[in-house]
Amino acid sequence: MKAIFMGLGYIGLPTAAVAAGAGITVLGVDVNPDVVATINRGKIHILEPALATLVKQVVEQGSLRASLEPETEDAFFIVVPTPFKQNHRADISYVESAIRMVLPFLQVGNLLVIESTSPVLTTEKMADRIFKERPELKDTLYIAYCPERVLPGNVLYELEHNNRVIGGLTSEAADKAAAFYAQFVKGRLHKTNARTAEMCKLTENSSRDVQIAFANELSMICKKAGVNVWDLINLANKHPRVQILQPGCGVGGHCIAVDPWFIVSDFPEQARIIKRARETNDYKADWCANQVLEACEHFVHETDREPLVA
Ligand SMILES: NC(=O)c1ccc[n+]([C@@H]2O[C@H](COP(=O)([O-])OP(=O)(O)OC[C@H]3O[C@@H](n4cnc5c(N)ncnc54)[C@H](O)[C@@H]3O)[C@@H](O)[C@H]2O)c1
Repeated sequence: MKAIFMGLGYIGLPTAAVAAGAGITVLGVDVNPDVVATINRGKIHILEPALATLVKQVVEQGSLRASLEPETEDAFFIVVPTPFKQNHRADISYVESAIRMVLPFLQVGNLLVIESTSPVLTTEKMADRIFKERPELKDTLYIAYCPERVLPGNVLYELEHNNRVIGGLTSEAADKAAAFYAQFVKGRLHKTNARTAEMCKLTENSSRDVQIAFANELSMICKKAGVNVWDLINLANKHPRVQILQPGCGVGGHCIAVDPWFIVSDFPEQARIIKRARETNDYKADWCANQVLEACEHFVHETDREPLVA
């Protein structure tokens, strides 16, 4: 089995390296020449524990190499960025560009998996584009969507042990993709259709966002009410069916502040709680900054010092 990973960033490089470590011959493709050169020297350009050792090992043994151009292989994985645009709509131009790059190399019987976090229907749209350009491949490719849910800092462990959701455009495609991941994933491989898998990734991070927003909103209410929010949550969580999270300065990580917008922008009428949660968590960062400023001003006033902030 030979596989291509399009995109060698925080997700693509570790996945390519783990696959290579499991005996798959991997070609990693990236549009950034520095990334390609670094990996071909057996080095890495991102921070991730234990990844440098694994990449050095698989590059030295010849199971991972990097290139600016794809080649003909058995399986193709799209792991490029999916940020949002000014209007919060998903920017899938990197996915479109990676699909365009692999298009001339696709052959009958190939597996094509999109891993990039994507709005619902993206996999179907990409399949339509492929078959428009290469109609002879219709019904001969296995196309699936398999989102990533690893935590940066623990990526190598989670790539192997997390459960995966694999959505095929057909059940045969889901089977074929699951067989690929089974070579290095010890977690469970849950098969479904592509739409459900796309929505599943967005739902996971929207669920986290909504729950964090509830804690963040409580903290702002408690400030007004003169209630200690930490004591409050601790006491409320004594209820057997209540589990409130801890408030913070918004949300952290690469995904939670981005992915819910992919639901909101596609379903604005329905996604009311998800939208409010996103706004609440963004607002909480400003609120925290203002709390710090107010505390500074209070300090200056109390101590009769020069203002700390102009
Ligand atoms: N980083 C995370 O914690 C995380 C977790 C889960 C899911 N994801 C999702 O995984 C996807 C990839 O994220 P990432 O953090 O690895 O991004 P990243 O920015 O770290 O890396 C993406 C890489 O893709 C390359 N690239 C761009 N266009 C390309 C093309 N046409 N062909 C080949 N390479 C191309 C870039 O040069 C870059 O090196 C995104 O959809 C993201 O939402 C990320």
